[in-house]
Amino acid sequence: MSSSPTPAPDNPPRPPRRKRYSGRNPQRFEDKYKEHRQDPATLAKVTASGKTPAGTHIPILLPEILEILALRPGETVADLTVGYGGHASALLPAIQPGGRLIALDIDPLELPRTETRLRALGFPDETLTIQRNNFAGLPKLLATLGLPGVDALLADLGVSSMQIDNPSRGFSFKTEGPLDMRLNPDRGQTASALLAGITPQKLAALLHENADEPRAFLLADALAGKTFPTTRALTEALRALTPDPDEAEITFRRVFQALRIAVNEEFTALNTLLRHLPDCLNPGGRVALLTFHSGEDRRVKKALAAGLADGTWSSIADTVIRPTPAEQHANPRSTSAKLRWAIRAY
Ligand SMILES: C[S@@+](CC[C@H](N)C(=O)[O-])C[C@H]1O[C@@H](n2cnc3c(N)ncnc32)[C@H](O)[C@@H]1O
Repeated sequence: MSSSPTPAPDNPPRPPRRKRYSGRNPQRFEDKYKEHRQDPATLAKVTASGKTPAGTHIPILLPEILEILALRPGETVADLTVGYGGHASALLPAIQPGGRLIALDIDPLELPRTETRLRALGFPDETLTIQRNNFAGLPKLLATLGLPGVDALLADLGVSSMQIDNPSRGFSFKTEGPLDMRLNPDRGQTASALLAGITPQKLAALLHENADEPRAFLLADALAGKTFPTTRALTEALRALTPDPDEAEITFRRVFQALRIAVNEEFTALNTLLRHLPDCLNPGGRVALLTFHSGEDRRVKKALAAGLADGTWSSIADTVIRPTPAEQHANPRSTSAKLRWAIRAY
C-alpha cells in the first residue's frame, strides 16, 4: 500500500502552478493576468512598448493640466471624470495640506476600484469625496455637499482604457463582446437595443452628428431596426457594406463612437455641464477640458468663446493644446486629445 510522502520541513509542498497560456502574449483580456495583478515590472514593460496595461489608464496631458489648474494647498478641486484616477493621483498631493478632491464618475464598475487605489495613497480620508454621479448633475451635487463652488475643475471626456479594453462592456470593435456600450450598465438601453429600435432617418442623423460619418444614410438604411447582439455581428455587417478594406477600420471606429455617444447621451451631459460650469467655480477658478473628437471640441470651444465675450471668463485658451509627438508615441490613445482651459472672472 502506498501513501503520499510527508514533506520534510525544509522541503515544503510547492504551491500549485499558475495556469499557463499558449503563446508569449496572452490575447484574451481575462488572460492578461500579470497586468491585472499590476506587477510593477510588467506594467513598466507594457507601458514602454506604447500600450496601456490591461485594467489601467494612462492620464493624458498631465503636466499641462497641472499647470493650468495651478492648485494651491487647501484648495478644492473637482475631477468630474475620475476614471482610473490617473489625473486625480496627481491632483491630491497638489492640494495638501487641507485641500479637498471631489471625484466623480458615472461608471459603477470601475469607481470602487478607483476609490481603493486613491485611498491607498494615504491622504487623510476627508481629503477625498468620491461619488458616482453624472457630471451633468454637478450643481446639485455641490449644493448637497454645501459647497458654493470649487477652485478648479477637470473633465477628461469619453471612455477610459479599462472600459475600452474590457470586452464584456462592448466598447471596442477590436474584441468580441455584447454590443452594450453603457458607461453605467445599470441604466438606459444598450447599443444593440438602440439599433434595433431606431429609424433609418434618426440613425443617419446620429452617425453624422456624433462621428461625421460620410456614408451615414447608406449605413443607416442597412443597420436601423436590425438586431446585432455582439460587436462582431455589427463589424461583420459594416465590413459587408464597406468594399474598400482600408476603409473598414475607419468605418468601425466612427460607427462605434457614434453609438457610444448616443447610448450614453454624452452631448446632452456635456451641453448641461458647459451651461453650469461658471456657476460651479469660485471667482478666479480654473477649468481644464480634455476632448477626443470634433463634436466635443466644437461644443467646448463655442461655450468658452461665448463666456469670454460676455465676461464670465477672464481668459480662455486662445489655441488648443495637443499632446506632444513624444506623448502620442508613448501613449497612442492620446493622439486625438485636445485640451482647452478657462479662468472664471472675479
Ligand atoms: C477618459 S476617462 C477619464 C480618465 C481619468 N482622467 C484618469 O486619468 O484615469 C473618462 C471617464 O469619464 C467617465 N464619464 C463619461 N461621461 C461621464 C459623465 N457624464 N459623468 C461622469 N463621468 C463620466 C467615464 O466613465 C470614464 O471613466
